[in-house]
Amino acid sequence: MSWISLVMVGALVSDWPRPLIIAHRGASGHRPEHTIEAYRLAVSQGADLIEPDLVMTKDGVLIARHENEIGGTTDVAEKYPNRKTTKTIDGDSVTGWFAEDFTLAEVKTLRARERLPYRSHYWDGRFEIPTFDEILEFVRQEEARLGRRIGLYPETKHPSYHESLGLRITDAVIDALHREGYRRRTDPVFIQSFEVGNLQRARGRTELSLIQLVDATGRPADATARGDARGYRELMTPAGLSFVASYANGIGPARALVQPVSPNGELLAPSTLVRDAHAAGLVVHVWTVRADREFLPAGYKGDPLAEYRRLAELGVDGIFTDFPDQAVRALRTATR
Ligand code: G3P
Ligand code: CA
Repeated sequence: MSWISLVMVGALVSDWPRPLIIAHRGASGHRPEHTIEAYRLAVSQGADLIEPDLVMTKDGVLIARHENEIGGTTDVAEKYPNRKTTKTIDGDSVTGWFAEDFTLAEVKTLRARERLPYRSHYWDGRFEIPTFDEILEFVRQEEARLGRRIGLYPETKHPSYHESLGLRITDAVIDALHREGYRRRTDPVFIQSFEVGNLQRARGRTELSLIQLVDATGRPADATARGDARGYRELMTPAGLSFVASYANGIGPARALVQPVSPNGELLAPSTLVRDAHAAGLVVHVWTVRADREFLPAGYKGDPLAEYRRLAELGVDGIFTDFPDQAVRALRTATR
């Protein structure tokens, strides 16, 4: 075993500095989200983990997109105008172009675009849509080049919907990770989902860390099918957290569940969620810190670094961010 391999084996994710810096959709504040180039920039900026959101193609291949509607982040409307359609996804009517209607070969003809109008569109039309296997290969190459581990934080998007089409997204993610050699709880991988049932089933198939995502409102899309009336708020009570701990290793809450803000963006008294989750044996990874003025609460007075520091003071174990460079400056540099 080489010296680099020995160092990498020794650097288990449990030994990494806290809070972990999780590159949300890559360095998506600087490059179109979910492209290899966005992930590459995140790694070069010092992110601990990269976050691929995953959906599936018609021929059953995992690709990185935030949602199965791909019209908002690619040039599919120009290349396949006749494929536009309307579907019901998790109870919502959605019109657009859908990953599950395209083969991988067709997806590979597309190019990524920036989603948000107020971010740079300089890179639009240049980058491919990556498969999960390509992302795993990218991570393997970057780890060898840099001599450090790079964590993966894949999210199964719309698992019940995919499975209703015969696309077994959660099994596909687990199988891909196991094939790549990620098998232990201490490996630098967290599998995340907004649904509960697929994480419960995943618990029976893998030792890898599982994260229950929770939003500030609403309830898991599979709640009705499971006969469970609880919403995300109920899952965040001590009793709810005890339930989550029966199948998951942590929670991924919207940041307002940890640091509430007023309608004017003023910082309110913090919640007890971090303490309660830790008491249940769960880590806490909050989403999503973004520097854009559309997202930064007014209470931070225009200083995006202040939000990372506030969340760190509150004891979170990881922070999703579109701007890993700012997270590194706020959390990993000695001077403030
Ligand atoms: O997965 C954490 C965070 O990314 C959840 O929100 O909608 O950006 O996937 P979303
Ligand atoms: Ca996500």
